[in-house]
Amino acid sequence: MHSQFAPLSPGNLTERHYEMLVQAVVDYAIFMLDPAGFVVSWNAGAARTKGYAAAEAIGQHLSIFYTEEDRCAGKPGYLLDRARREGRAQDEGWRVRKDGTRFWALVVIDAIRNEQGDIIGLAKITRDITDRREAEGRYDALRAQLFQAQKLEALGQLTGGMAHDFNNLLTIILSAAKLASRTDDPERLASLLDNIQTAGERGAQMTRNLLTFARCEPKPSRLVDLNQLLDAASTFISQALPKTMTLEMQVDEALHAVQLDPSELEMALLNLILNARDAMSGSGVVRLEASNQRLAGDVEGLQGEFVLIAVADQGCGIDPAIRPRLFEPFFTTKDIGKGTGLGLSQVYGFARQAGGSVQIESTAGQGTTMQLYLPAGSAQAADAGE
Ligand SMILES: Nc1ncnc2c1ncn2[C@@H]1O[C@H](COP(=O)(O)OP(=O)(O)O)[C@@H](O)[C@H]1O
Ligand SMILES: [Mg+2]
Repeated sequence: MHSQFAPLSPGNLTERHYEMLVQAVVDYAIFMLDPAGFVVSWNAGAARTKGYAAAEAIGQHLSIFYTEEDRCAGKPGYLLDRARREGRAQDEGWRVRKDGTRFWALVVIDAIRNEQGDIIGLAKITRDITDRREAEGRYDALRAQLFQAQKLEALGQLTGGMAHDFNNLLTIILSAAKLASRTDDPERLASLLDNIQTAGERGAQMTRNLLTFARCEPKPSRLVDLNQLLDAASTFISQALPKTMTLEMQVDEALHAVQLDPSELEMALLNLILNARDAMSGSGVVRLEASNQRLAGDVEGLQGEFVLIAVADQGCGIDPAIRPRLFEPFFTTKDIGKGTGLGLSQVYGFARQAGGSVQIESTAGQGTTMQLYLPAGSAQAADAGE
């Protein structure tokens, strides 16, 4: 008897010490069940968690701690079965205290076996984690709120950017219309009407793009002669840059034909050029290069014949920290009205849909090169297309 109260050491541990250990734990309900699920032992933690004194709990079936719904659904029996069959069962859910109040419990039931391997009982540990669950719930709600706020911010940026873009087009249309109504010169009139038509078409293209973006419609593609397309596009590309910036184009002859939607490619080029413009403060050179490339898996695992279209600027470069987000729709570092964050997501979506990829090379303060890889359409397809 005397040794029971001597300081603990590995040599003098008795069964009584283990019981003292179990009783000393008040944060966890630790109790034992007979193989059928009736309570045979009860610790102070169990009394505290569940509200039953040991004398009340011992002899009761485990199911009294469960909610009415769980009892009807057969949950206590299911957990006991599982512990007996697999040696262990875990659960998280509502449990009921003696006074009828509920707490959120984390439950583990382990089978206890004798030397022959027969189950002689079950050990059950229950922890009340209601506080933790509530904290998590608050965190989830906060996160949802933040997400909603971000969405609204994105929407604000989008509408701001759209309004800005449409305003630009409307300014062109209105001022051209005003001038047209005052001129007698037929040549000037024709050129002004031409401006109006171009701006109108750009606007129509913008709404089409927005609709496609909203509905994720795949676009019709055809086999496109890139030399022709780039030649035609060079005019509107250079118009996108202010006079203080120079556009240098280096387009190899006989580029592979590529299967794609030409208006999407034009849009992608425009997006890249506009980003280059925004990255350079006022002046500098933007280079557009196009060449045939054979890839052997070195670029995102792509293999075969590709056309590489690279747009290089001498701008501010891209902070490596924001790299992973560049292709996200609505991601922008520009002020409201200056950027929609839809440019690179369009470029990326377009490149992926065409079976290619976009690569970014950038050095802070020196500039950025965006590389668009597009797979060559097959010769057969080329014949069929023409
Ligand atoms: N050539 C570039 N140089 C520096 N930063 C760039 C360049 N292109 C894209 N970025 C960065 O990527 C962001 C997203 O680009 P984008 O999707 O075109 O949206 P937006 O141009 O409307 O901001 C830009 O806000 C900018 O921070
Ligand atoms: Mg952009």
